[in-house]
Formats: sequence, C-alpha cells, structure tokens
Amino acid sequence: MITGKTQVVGIIGDPVEHSLSPPMHNAAFKHLKMDCVYVPFHVREENLGSAIEGARSMEIKGLNVTIPHKTGVIPYLDEVDQAAQLIGAVNTIKFTENRAKGYNTDGLGAVKALEEITPVKDKKVVLMGAGGAARALAFQLVLNRISELTIANRTPQKAEELAGDIHSKLKFSPEAIGLEEMELSSTDILINTTSVGMYPHQDHPALVRREQMHPEMVVNDVIYNPLKTNLLKEAESIGAETLNGTKMLIYQGRESFRIWTGVTPPVEVFERSLMRTLR
Ligand code: ATR
Repeated sequence: MITGKTQVVGIIGDPVEHSLSPPMHNAAFKHLKMDCVYVPFHVREENLGSAIEGARSMEIKGLNVTIPHKTGVIPYLDEVDQAAQLIGAVNTIKFTENRAKGYNTDGLGAVKALEEITPVKDKKVVLMGAGGAARALAFQLVLNRISELTIANRTPQKAEELAGDIHSKLKFSPEAIGLEEMELSSTDILINTTSVGMYPHQDHPALVRREQMHPEMVVNDVIYNPLKTNLLKEAESIGAETLNGTKMLIYQGRESFRIWTGVTPPVEVFERSLMRTLR
C-alpha cells in the first residue's frame, strides 16, 4: 500500500516503457516489506536537467538512468563515482540532502554475476563488441584486475578507441582486433556484448563456433532474449560453463538497490520477477 511515508525511486529514459526494472525492484520492496515504490518516468532529452532538478525538489531517493541519458545526465550531478567517471556513463543516481551522486552498476553488476561462477582476477578475457555495454564491462574488468583483455569488434577502429581510452585512464593495455582475428585457446572468459543472436535474429550464426572454444572457459552473453543464444548453445555443447544476460540485469539492479537502501535483496526475488516479466 502506498502511504504518506512511501519513498520513491524510479527510472528515467526515452523510451522507458520496455524497462524490466520496475517489476524487479517492486518485488524486492514487497519481499523486504519496505515502504518504497519504483516508478518509470518518461523523460525527453530536452527535459533532462529539469527532471533531475524536479527529482531533487521532490526528494526522490534514487533513479536509474537508461538510454539515451546515461552520459548526458552527468553535468546535472554533484558527484560521480570512480567507475562511472571512467566509463563516462551513469545508470544510478542517489539523492541525499540536496546532493546527487552518480554510479554505474552495469559493469559492476556484470562482473558480480560472472564472479558467482569464477573469480575474474588474473583471468584472460575476450570481449566481443565495443559499444556501451562493452565499455562498462571493460573498465570494470580492468578495475577488478583481470590479467589480459582483448576487445574484438566488427569495426576494429572502435575497439582501438576503447582500448586507447582504457590505456590512458588505467595504464592497462587491452589488445584491439577484428572479430575474424579471435584466437581463444588460452582464453578464460569470453563475453559477447554485440547484438548478434538477439531476437528477432536469433538464428544468426554465433560469432564464435564450438571448434574455437574449449571446455574450461566461461562464456557469457549479455543477450537475454532469447535466454539461450546460439553462442551459449555452442559453448554448452562442448561442456563450457555459460551465463546469459538475465544475470547481468539482475545484478546491476541489485547493486542499484543496495546503493539506494543499503540492503542487498536476494537474487531469487529479482530473478523470479524478471523471468515472469520476460515470459
Ligand atoms: P550496446 O550499447 O548494447 O553495447 P551498441 O553501442 O549499439 O550497443 O553496440 C553494438 C555492438 O554490436 C557494436 O560493437 C557493433 O559492432 P560495430 O561497432 O562494428 O557496429 C556490434 N554489432 C552489431 N551488429 C553486428 C553484426 N551483425 N556483426 C558483428 N557485430 C555487430
């Protein structure tokens, strides 16, 4: 029940109606018997500044930020944490006593999801793609002290730009290559952040075939529709461990929830709610 004391968090984006976050967070508030509600706010680009001012004025406790505002929102915040600053994108804002602080839980959540399966420290990672998701993951993986990073992208120049940015900010040198140059015999973790294999193109052949994989590697696809992409099917067929995109969604959401409330909700509560929404 919404009362006079109910605290409000939410998400801003354009569009926002496809967001999977409201049911997950509201299920967790209900499970934990917290008097809070998570609501979607459709915010157009030209209204971003006034939306943040409005959120401050109305003492909204926190916001998720989604496309296309993750970078544009930064000038309206008082402070941005290290990962968000490095990535250059904020997906979570916490409002406290007239201060707004930005965080990025996309990379953090993805790495926490991976770490449920395998520690990432000292691992050799190959990341396919060089867009927004790849950027968040790449910086967070380097912050978590992986030993080697290869960024493979259809347009190698974009991989080089991301590698150059990581090198200049973190003094860590990723290798940047084209997709056809991938060699995975010593790879510990393979991550797909491209849209290849995503609905409605789920029949598109995977960017990596089973012949290139080995059973000791972990294969992570950030795609969650379908739940099992061709890439994950190839990996499963040789006995490699796999992780789909639902985990990344769940863990980034849990990290945002923790930032706002100080409480980390059970994975199962987020998971059950997300699976129900996806079905
Ligand atoms: P996101 O923010 O989800 O990471 P994005 O920024 O649009 O999305 O990035 C999409 C990624 O998928 C890019 O790395 C893109 O490669 P290019 O940089 O060459 O465009 C990759 N991608 C999209 N379609 C692809 C395809 N058919 N084959 C290979 N890579 C593809």
